[in-house]
Amino acid sequence: MPSKPNAASRLVFLAFLLVISAAAANDDAAARRTMEQFAGFPASDDGEGPSSDFHVDSEGLQRQIDELASFSDSPAPSVTRVLYTDKDVQARRYIKGIMNQLGLVVREDAVGNIFGRWEGSEPGLGAVATGSHVDAIPFSGKFDGVVGVLGALEAISLLKRSAFLPKRSLEVIMFTSEEPTRFGISCLGSRLMAGIEELAQSLRKVVDNQNVSFLDAAESAGYKLNLEDLHSVFLKTDKYSAFIELHIEQGPILEKEGIPIGIVTAIAAPASLKVDFEGNGGHAGAVLMPARNDAGLAAAELALAVEKHVLESGSIDTVGTVGILQLHPGAINSIPSKSHLEIDVRDIDEKRRNDVIEKIRQSAAHISKNRGVELSEFKIINQDPPALSDKSVVDAMEFAAKQLNLAYKKMISRAYHDSLFMARVSPMGMIFIPCYKGYSHKPEEYASPEDMANGVKVLALTMATLSLE
Ligand code: GLV
Ligand code: MN
Ligand code: MN
Repeated sequence: MPSKPNAASRLVFLAFLLVISAAAANDDAAARRTMEQFAGFPASDDGEGPSSDFHVDSEGLQRQIDELASFSDSPAPSVTRVLYTDKDVQARRYIKGIMNQLGLVVREDAVGNIFGRWEGSEPGLGAVATGSHVDAIPFSGKFDGVVGVLGALEAISLLKRSAFLPKRSLEVIMFTSEEPTRFGISCLGSRLMAGIEELAQSLRKVVDNQNVSFLDAAESAGYKLNLEDLHSVFLKTDKYSAFIELHIEQGPILEKEGIPIGIVTAIAAPASLKVDFEGNGGHAGAVLMPARNDAGLAAAELALAVEKHVLESGSIDTVGTVGILQLHPGAINSIPSKSHLEIDVRDIDEKRRNDVIEKIRQSAAHISKNRGVELSEFKIINQDPPALSDKSVVDAMEFAAKQLNLAYKKMISRAYHDSLFMARVSPMGMIFIPCYKGYSHKPEEYASPEDMANGVKVLALTMATLSLE
């Protein structure tokens, strides 16, 4: 149970809770007792509040999701929206447009994290923030991240329609490049907001696979950066009193168990690696097998070693993926002279994840020696610790789910999210909703309007509760 709000806000909140309970068609004694406890006096029966219901505009939300999905570099139903491309810029414009329509104060930082702020009655207090991302990996779906941005804006709209008055300001954040697609850096915007100096340094020189620098790409999207500006993205640790991210589960548990809400207690530890092998290459017909040092086969052998080391951990929670494997020169009649792998390794146990990375490193060295190829790069791009949700946010999310009469399950996020980094600068929590068969990062990704509406309501009530604290 969250701490009690002050006397003035109690009345508003009581009315607000009455609206919610009426909308949830829930007159059970427990919810009623909670409302009374919150308000400090008996709840009346008239159900009159600032608005007659607590209704999510599901049609409007779905329309916005479909419109946003049309800004894509691959054909529907897939979505491809990569950092600082024209489609990304169009999506940014679209999100800022909705923020403006809602009367939010819109601000962008140097790398294009976008903030829409609803000023509370005590704007000097740390704000309650929510948000997610709208960039989409190649050939993915339209719900990953998007539900946490457009859904958050609908939550704000819902609170406004309910005549809720925030004490702490409420803020919706659209993070820049949660996906690592273009520069190989995941959660780029939130990682920088968390004040990671090495990232600020590496952004000065990082290039994409077309050799376009981060700084040039940012400028082409309208973010002309001086090098010092990167530090201006760092957040002060008292800026937010809470951060909550709404997201599709990206796994099958909620759907399978028929539970509408997941309350995330921790986010698994992700890591990513880049590996390069180099050999002599040569003619596919003329160079006999004993004379070869094939960089492609070294990569293939390492890919299998990744699977072996992950399975050796003995835990179902250890996962590893070789998502990128490139061969040079890429001709059927040429022995690969160069190979490039990008490897993703995750676990809820950081040490176990690190042990797997160490084994991959040893395998890469052995393979290089046995095959006579050079291991020209073995680079750990990120090796992030897991993050824990904060009890205050978890309590508020549980309170909201109970008020709304929605069953919930506490769970771990196996995917990473901007919340992993927001947890470093703010108490953090995440709300999951079911998605079809747990599909994500593919075009079949789907969340039902009803599940999204439930998530939006839990988010709105969680923010309202935390805003009054
Ligand atoms: C996020 O997109 C992830 O890969 O977990
Ligand atoms: Mn994703
Ligand atoms: Mn996501």
